[in-house]
Amino acid sequence: MKLVTKNKFNKIAPIAFLSCFFMNQPAIANEQGNVNNLVKSCTTCHGQKGISTNTNYPNLAGQKQGYLNKEITAFREGKRDNPQMTPYVKTLSDDDITVLAHYFSQQKNGTKASKTYNKKGENVRARCISCHGMTGITVTELWPNLAGQQAMYLQKQLHTFKSGERKSPIMQVIAQELTDKQIEAVAEYYSQQAASK
Ligand code: HEC
Ligand code: HEC
Repeated sequence: MKLVTKNKFNKIAPIAFLSCFFMNQPAIANEQGNVNNLVKSCTTCHGQKGISTNTNYPNLAGQKQGYLNKEITAFREGKRDNPQMTPYVKTLSDDDITVLAHYFSQQKNGTKASKTYNKKGENVRARCISCHGMTGITVTELWPNLAGQQAMYLQKQLHTFKSGERKSPIMQVIAQELTDKQIEAVAEYYSQQAASK
């Protein structure tokens, strides 16, 4: 009797194991397919790995996940607007946004620190360090890294904070105190810093 039970177990166990394995395969494939499909709608502008194809489009690689989540949601809800960007996120669900923010935050932004000393930008940087760090890597999930970001994009954001077109109680006040020359210098400065990821 004992022997029969053992034999049965030996036959069933591998079958049970294999069927579990096969049952999970489509689930994994679907998940990966879902990520790929979502990411595909972003890559014309932000690149397959989150390094953008145009200096006016932000790099998303290595950006803080919490910040990406917050900004994509802001575009979806019209709190932040851009005619190029907004149409692509209008129909995303919260789960889609979580998947996208996770994907792009995990990509590598390989920008290396510039060897040229950027004195002008460094002088302006004194006003930014407490939140964006010495080299543009922030300490909180909700504040954006600036290191290795596109210089033209950073400049544009500072101008839109200054004019009030992009809303942020903190950044609007800070940008209003900067001249166009200072904006240019500090954008250049942070774009030339090494990104951690
Ligand atoms: C047709 C080009 C285009 C496509 C496609 C596009 N974006 Fe964008 N995206 C932009 C532009 C341009 C901006 C900058 C908007 C601005 O100036 O405020 C932007 C900004 C962003 C930002 C803000 C980054 C930051 O540092 O604040 C995020 C996040 C983002 N896009 C995610 C996505 C995701 C996710 C997708 C795909 C679902 C996507 N974008 C598709 C053009 C695009
Ligand atoms: C007190 C904290 C604080 C200080 C100081 C600060 N920032 Fe920010 N910065 C923020 C926060 C928070 C955001 C995100 C705003 C939002 O929610 O859209 C931000 C966003 C930005 C963005 C947009 C980045 C993106 O990916 O779209 C730029 C550019 C920027 N800051 C540049 C600067 C510069 C340059 C300085 C110094 C002159 C500076 N900031 C000082 C907190 C700060």
